[in-house]
Amino acid sequence: KVKIATIGGGSSYTPELMEGFIKRYDELPIKEIWLVDVAEGKEKQEIVGKMSQRMWDASPYDVKIYTTLDRQLALKGADFVTTQFRVGQLDARVKDERIPFSYGFLGQETNGAGGMFKAFRTIPIILDVVEDMKVLCPDAWLINFANPSGMVTEAIIRYGKWDKVIGLCNVPVMAKMGESNTLGIPKEDLVYKFAGVNHFHWHKVADKNGKDITLDLIDKLYEENSGLPKNIFDVAFYKEQLIQMKMIPCGYHRYYYRAEEMLKHGITEYENEGTRAQQVKKIEHDLFELYKDPNLNYKPKQLEERGGAYYSDAACETIASIYANKNTEIVVSTRNDGAIPDLPAECVVEVTAYVGAQGARNVAFGELPTAEKGWLQVMKAMELLTIEAAVTGDYATALQAFTINPLIQSGETAKQVMNELFIAHEAHLPQF
Ligand code: NAD
Ligand code: G6P
Ligand code: MN
Repeated sequence: KVKIATIGGGSSYTPELMEGFIKRYDELPIKEIWLVDVAEGKEKQEIVGKMSQRMWDASPYDVKIYTTLDRQLALKGADFVTTQFRVGQLDARVKDERIPFSYGFLGQETNGAGGMFKAFRTIPIILDVVEDMKVLCPDAWLINFANPSGMVTEAIIRYGKWDKVIGLCNVPVMAKMGESNTLGIPKEDLVYKFAGVNHFHWHKVADKNGKDITLDLIDKLYEENSGLPKNIFDVAFYKEQLIQMKMIPCGYHRYYYRAEEMLKHGITEYENEGTRAQQVKKIEHDLFELYKDPNLNYKPKQLEERGGAYYSDAACETIASIYANKNTEIVVSTRNDGAIPDLPAECVVEVTAYVGAQGARNVAFGELPTAEKGWLQVMKAMELLTIEAAVTGDYATALQAFTINPLIQSGETAKQVMNELFIAHEAHLPQF
């Protein structure tokens, strides 16, 4: 039977995971789940640990939840390790968002300056986790959800030299769900092809006869936008642009294709309601009040207020697919290996893949249109520089990464934002 270790177990998303595992128990017979956290997260970890145990107790299955601060104990003999930790908790995210906004730059948890600092904090810790895994559970699969999910996954492969990893995001899951609704066609009858990098990918869709219906869907999406996570403000894409590329951009592309409007909205929201991190603190507080209720033994609806809703549909399905060699079609962050010929084979991309006992086998997407190819190559360069800076702690490499990021206008202000973020996050950035 299967042992799961979840790093960042105190996350409010943990009931998502439990629900997904309970649903799939017949394919994935779990024995125990270890929720690992750090001292700062202990209170949340305890609440969510008890809540998780209640969910299993209400199911027909006998699964035990362990909560611990001892990561190595949890990793020992694990079959699957899932990562959903946030270094510095939400207070660090407040800084990632507030500091850029206060200088008139976008403050967002995975894009722009804030996302790069989240990578700087997260990558050293994930590389420690990988070193522990080499000793304590060398055959385990690592299923990463910690953001920036694509960069973290690339760091695991490139610098951790660990290949048994799959990076995940809920954005493709939500897009598929929403679009199936919009089209009035069941999900199973739609054939998707995704390509790009995390939070920067596009997709095409065909019907069950293989006919490409992307343009049709673009049309319908203008009547009813669907499948956008709660954390992204909905500025419409330019229709002629989508028709020209014949693809549907991911929700996060708004930050790039409508940068002016997204920044304006972000600054207004920041001035009136505070950062998204501050809003999330409130949502999280309400969620934990619910989780404390000794009668609650299922995932509450309110979790949908978080941007990462439906995350378990990706995470638990990926794990079940590896374990039971299901070869399910899932959008994953994994080694490119030619799926996108515009990017090097060894870098990490987010693409449609069939996931089975051997991991992810990518579906070839082929060359991208001219504009998208250019964007993607710039974004990959930004990611590689960010990862390198996170590993080496080199200031000049970080500056290069900042300079090439399309959401950061280069110059004195950018350098000041970067310097201020370095000071604000000093405690979590020993490598610099
Ligand atoms: P959170 O703030 O609740 O953090 C989760 C837990 O991680 C906390 O309890 C925290 O104490 C703990 N933690 C921090 N450092 C740790 C360490 N070194 N070891 C173990 N645990 C540690 O975060 P959240 O809002 O639930 O999000 C969790 C993570 O998932 C974040 O990185 C977030 O960006 C990511 N996320 C990813 C997606 C996606 O699409 N891939 C979607 C939503 C959230
Ligand atoms: C999205 C993304 C995540 C992101 C999150 C933010 O859907 O896929 O990668 O981190 O939601 O949600 P939040 O509720 O924390 O703002
Ligand atoms: Mn995501």
